[in-house]
Amino acid sequence: MSPLYTSGEVYHSQLIHASGHRLNTVRIYIVLVLGIETSCDETAAALVRDGREIVSSVIASQIALHERFGGVVPELASREHLDKIVPVVAEAFTRAAIDMTNIDGLAVTVGPGLVGSLLVGVSYAKAMAFALNKPIVGVNHIEGHIYSVAFENPPVQYPALALVVSGGHTNIFHIPSPGKYKVVARTRDDAAGEAFDKVAKMLGLGYPGGPIIERLAREGNPQAVRFAIPRMGDGLPDFSFSGLKTAVTRHVRETGMRPVQNGEQPAQNIKDLAASFQSVVVRSLVGTLERVAPDFGPRTLIVAGGVACNGALREASRTAAERLGVPAYFPSPHLSTDNAAMIAAAGTVKLVAGERAGLDLNADVTLRLQNLDLEEEALKRAGVRYRL
Ligand code: KG4
Ligand code: ZN
Repeated sequence: MSPLYTSGEVYHSQLIHASGHRLNTVRIYIVLVLGIETSCDETAAALVRDGREIVSSVIASQIALHERFGGVVPELASREHLDKIVPVVAEAFTRAAIDMTNIDGLAVTVGPGLVGSLLVGVSYAKAMAFALNKPIVGVNHIEGHIYSVAFENPPVQYPALALVVSGGHTNIFHIPSPGKYKVVARTRDDAAGEAFDKVAKMLGLGYPGGPIIERLAREGNPQAVRFAIPRMGDGLPDFSFSGLKTAVTRHVRETGMRPVQNGEQPAQNIKDLAASFQSVVVRSLVGTLERVAPDFGPRTLIVAGGVACNGALREASRTAAERLGVPAYFPSPHLSTDNAAMIAAAGTVKLVAGERAGLDLNADVTLRLQNLDLEEEALKRAGVRYRL
């Protein structure tokens, strides 16, 4: 029987010296979890041991399919997930040389995301859990991104502050302890990754825009075009990127800039614009992170999500972390964009804690990650007064 079934807890074992003296107490986690991710345009499956070690990770990207539309086409995405889910999961087991029956549980992304895409992963994972008689948990995609730093970094010290920047999300979370989240800042309109993608599309650069803009920005002057950092009139530390997109449109129109056509080499003014745009996005993200940090006293900064691939963002975050005197953890690039290893890592914590989803587990397109706010509201409703 799987360890998750027997106790829902990790095993403890003791190393006994030949003389009979106890040498050390070692916690041995023997938890192997299959993660499944299909929330947007990547079909992914991964086997993760103990929430920290990737045994195998397979990602079938749909970029080529959506590229010519300049963005993800939901209908095409869900059909592609249907085609890919079986071979991708099979490949994860083949690469790991592990039999399906040997997993201890499953973790699947339940939201937020595109409903047709999410449903493919959720339905497949539930069917597999039922067939194998294994426990399953649903994972919030954003929480998955936060857990992407569980690999290749020292363990996160709490409280932590996490900047999650992807194609669909731009949030800063205060995480006082594992699994507790409070939204500290959010975008009022476009996500940062979405802004990269839209600006790239406007300049005829292709999809996804982030990596292309970053490449061009390396050869451009970040001071060439002066964009103002968007600030909220109400003083809240929220983000806004749609005004910036409009400012880029205006700059293109007013300077008579010609978008790149037919894959030609981008001109210097496009590289300068890319560098200036990237610079203001990075200053907005990292400036806010640094501004809110003292209120929460984090012991770790986490920067995750597809945009965390961006070298300029990493460098600025690292510098900010140094000033704050805390370490900054980033996922390596292949774990920054959507993958299933991060879902398995987040799911492992839930499974080990005894959490179980029923077969009524469903996709939730607008799933939020802010349980602390909700807990605080429930406490307030119950008449609890805070001393602090
Ligand atoms: O996390 P992710 O794979 O998917 C979502 O959950 O949205 O993030 C994809 C986003 C895209 O908007 C892409 O343009 C952006 O991440 N991205 C980058 C870079 N690499 C990917 N943005 C800026 N610089 C990059 N190097
Ligand atoms: Zn994502």
